[in-house]
Amino acid sequence: MISLFNSVNEFTEYRNSLATDSIGLVPTMGNLHDGHLSLIKKSISENQYTIVTIFVNPLQFGPNEDFDKYPRTLTADVEKIKSLKIEGKEIIVLAPSSVNEIFPKNFKTTISVKDLTNTLCGASRPDHFDGVTTIVYRLFALAKASKSYFGQKDYQQVLVIRRMVEDLLIPTEVIALPINREESGLARSSRNQFLSESGRVEALELSGTILKISRLLKEKSFQEAGIEINDILEVVLRDQRWDYLEVLDAENLEAVNINTQQVVIAGALKIEETRLIDNHLTKISYAR
Ligand code: PAF
Repeated sequence: MISLFNSVNEFTEYRNSLATDSIGLVPTMGNLHDGHLSLIKKSISENQYTIVTIFVNPLQFGPNEDFDKYPRTLTADVEKIKSLKIEGKEIIVLAPSSVNEIFPKNFKTTISVKDLTNTLCGASRPDHFDGVTTIVYRLFALAKASKSYFGQKDYQQVLVIRRMVEDLLIPTEVIALPINREESGLARSSRNQFLSESGRVEALELSGTILKISRLLKEKSFQEAGIEINDILEVVLRDQRWDYLEVLDAENLEAVNINTQQVVIAGALKIEETRLIDNHLTKISYAR
C-alpha cells in the first residue's frame, strides 16, 4: 500500500498513529532513478513502513546553482514507487506542496557540522552542507524512523549526516548503500539527464580517473603510488572542468597518514554545465 502526503501536518498525524519502530526513511529530492529505488527496496526489505520524502531543498543550492532547473517529476516518481514489490509492507510518500510546508516562515535555525564540511564539495559549495543537515534533521524529526538510507555517491554527505546523528543523539541508524552505476560506469544521478550523448561519454573521465588512482593504490604502497597519483592530480588541477579530485582518509576526510586504512578517492567534474560527483573507497598500505 502507498499513501501520499503533501501536507506536513497530515503526514505528522498519520506518522504518530503508527505504533511501531519498524520504520525506514529514504530522503530524496525526487526524480527517482535506480539508485534511489535500491535505497527504497532495501528499506522495504528491512522495515514494515518506508517513508520516502521528495523535496527539492532550496537551502542546499547556492545562488548560481541549478535549483530552478532541478527536475521535479512527482507523478512519475510515485509511479516508480508503485511498481516496486511492496508485499504487505507500506510506503508513505511525503512530498511537501511548498517550501513553507517544511520550513515555516518563522524558521530560523541552521544545523552546521564543522570541519568535515570544509573540504571536497563543501569547499566549492560553502553553504551546501548546512542546507543538507538542516533539512535532514527536520526530516529525521518528522519521520522518527529507526533506520535511514542514503547513497554512497554523496560520500561526504553520508559522513556529515553520521556526525550530526552522533553529535545530536538522533535515534536513527544511518545506512549507506553502494553507488548505483549505469552500464558504462557512470554513477547514477538525476543530473545525468542534462548530458548530451557526447557529454555522457566525456563524463566517464570522472569514474575512469578515480578508478585509475584506485588501481595504483591496490598495486603499490601509498608512498610508491604517490608520484603517479600526483601526476594525475596535477593534470586535473590545470583542467578547468574539474572542481576537485582528492585522495583523503575515508574516515574523516583528512590528509592520508600513517593511521589511514582506507581512502576515499573523490572527484567533481563539470560537463556541459552539469557538475557530476563520484568516489571510490580503497584500502591502502602505508609503507613505514
Ligand atoms: O541526497 C539528496 O538527495 C539530498 O541531499 C537530501 C539528503 C535528500 C537532502 O535534501
